[in-house]
Amino acid sequence: MHRTDVNTDLSSTLASDEAERKPSNEAGTWRLGEQAVNRIGFGTKRLGSDAGQAIALLRQAVALGVNHLDTAAFYPSVGRAGEQHGYDSLEWANDAVRRALAPYSDDLTIATKVGPTEHGLARPDQLRALVEHDLRQLGLETLDLVYLRQHGLDSVAEHFGVLAELRAAGLIKNLGLSNVRLEHLAQAQEIAPVTAVQNRYGVGFGRVNDTMLETCGAQGIAFVPFFAVTATGREQGGVVHSDPVDTIARAHNATPAQIRIAWTLAKGPHVLAIPGTGNPTHLTENLAAGTIHLSPTDLTTLDAIPSE
Ligand SMILES: NC(=O)c1ccc[n+]([C@@H]2O[C@H](COP(=O)([O-])OP(=O)(O)OC[C@H]3O[C@@H](n4cnc5c(N)ncnc54)[C@H](OP(=O)(O)O)[C@@H]3O)[C@@H](O)[C@H]2O)c1
Repeated sequence: MHRTDVNTDLSSTLASDEAERKPSNEAGTWRLGEQAVNRIGFGTKRLGSDAGQAIALLRQAVALGVNHLDTAAFYPSVGRAGEQHGYDSLEWANDAVRRALAPYSDDLTIATKVGPTEHGLARPDQLRALVEHDLRQLGLETLDLVYLRQHGLDSVAEHFGVLAELRAAGLIKNLGLSNVRLEHLAQAQEIAPVTAVQNRYGVGFGRVNDTMLETCGAQGIAFVPFFAVTATGREQGGVVHSDPVDTIARAHNATPAQIRIAWTLAKGPHVLAIPGTGNPTHLTENLAAGTIHLSPTDLTTLDAIPSE
């Protein structure tokens, strides 16, 4: 399905002025492998459990210029209560992505991650099945970008080696790493190129990853922060309160969520935002964060907020 087809399913507001409104473009682009993506993308973790709403939101995101979706076979992590309530329940985010957007526009990059299972981190020999599961759920023959989402490994070499083999076999175009330290990046780069690193990072949050962000920038690797809006809210979500963020938001006639996204984007052209939301108003707001230009004083104030 091409973008024009997607639009036929959207509200008249979106369809009528789609040509002028591409707020996801405002922050510029970054190349993920062969594909240039707008720096503000969309994370599917917060889609909720109503399939209709999730599909509408994904189509809205694409209509507003999102061409980088971050998803996983194990999202959403929030309640799957639809069956109890009798409505069309969202089983997993990847199903919603396929139902909303397949066949996909050529300019859409869908990033997935493998590693977590209900029994802990997958063994290397289980990764192929997880990649094939993603391919089936998303209705694709090749995955654009697959992160190894690790937890607790001293070395990622064995796991990453399996993904590199799957890349060589044509199942994956680009490889990434998530929840990693610098030594993990170096181990992986011995095996295959790393296109993106996805770690926790935000205002007053995850600043332990400052060096990783800089290293990625120096090497032309995308740095993709997660929990950039919710920060210490982590799995629970919401926008964590901060007085300095609120003050700067008021000065820019913006929301705290927008300031948090704008701050990550100001960290370098290789930083890609993937805010997650189940709310259409929040989606529009997040995509407009690319129009906010934080002053050097704003940045110094936000940089100085102690990190957890
Ligand atoms: N690699 C990993 O280990 C990992 C871990 C977590 C997430 N991720 C990825 O990163 C993406 C981003 O992380 P995330 O979704 O967990 O957290 P996030 O984007 O930092 O924040 C999402 C939370 O903030 C709220 N929110 C978003 N925009 C808002 C706005 N404009 N105003 C008010 N509230 C707003 C959302 O609630 P509403 O729904 O009410 O807007 C939700 O509770 C995920 O979607 C996922 O793709 C990766």
